[in-house]
Amino acid sequence: MADPSGHADTVKHRVAIMLATGNRDKVREIRPMLEGISPMLQVWSLADLGLAPEIEETEPTLQGNARLKAAAIFRLIDERFERFIALADDTGLEVDALGGAPGVRSARFAPVPEGASPSYEQNVEHLMLSMAGTTGRTARFRTVIAMKGRLQLPDGNIMPIDDTVDGLIEGAITNERRGQGGFGYDPVFMPEGSTRTFAEMRIEEKNAISHRGRAIAAAVARIRELMARCGFETNHNANCP
Ligand code: IMP
Repeated sequence: MADPSGHADTVKHRVAIMLATGNRDKVREIRPMLEGISPMLQVWSLADLGLAPEIEETEPTLQGNARLKAAAIFRLIDERFERFIALADDTGLEVDALGGAPGVRSARFAPVPEGASPSYEQNVEHLMLSMAGTTGRTARFRTVIAMKGRLQLPDGNIMPIDDTVDGLIEGAITNERRGQGGFGYDPVFMPEGSTRTFAEMRIEEKNAISHRGRAIAAAVARIRELMARCGFETNHNANCP
């Protein structure tokens, strides 16, 4: 099995955190925030195991989809790790003038031929068109992170983990696209209290206030607490927003 840290001998004593996503943008954002929790924690992505499962998001809520994905990854890697937590997230942009749409359908908002997936650009274009003639631009991003796995308590008993945390950021949809950074709806989302869109911010600035950054901070706190209960040394200055 490939070991992203290069320390194959210690792998089996560590806790594996499996990021249940094939999206490189997300892995790039999430990995550094988790790595600081404990030297005994090792962050993996599905790509590290050569896995790219197709998990259909069939639930009507962000929480339902996040749990569904974490459970699917749990089953997939169950045999490969002793102590591990699968992390899966689901994010939605909720626009008040559209009654909370695109919400759980944020990735599939723009109409495209059956079998195709809309591009980020097509989704942004569809959002701008949908909002033409509506009043009010307020919106929020919401991320739910589901965690499913198992750790071992100091008395040897297995501790199952099945939990969710969330994070959100209020803001507004701008009238035109601004900035080159980020991804998805970032060029048209301006967080509350800022004069710049997410796409005009450096990745660290976005992470410090974003829905995903906040959900990850909650997940980091929960994982640190779980690892401490299981007797692992943890770093209280973990690199989280
Ligand atoms: P997912 O559930 O994380 O895959 O996100 C669903 C959709 O929301 C994605 O296809 C993106 O278009 C959008 N999205 C998710 N996170 C962000 C973000 O941080 N900025 C902008 N758009 C995002």
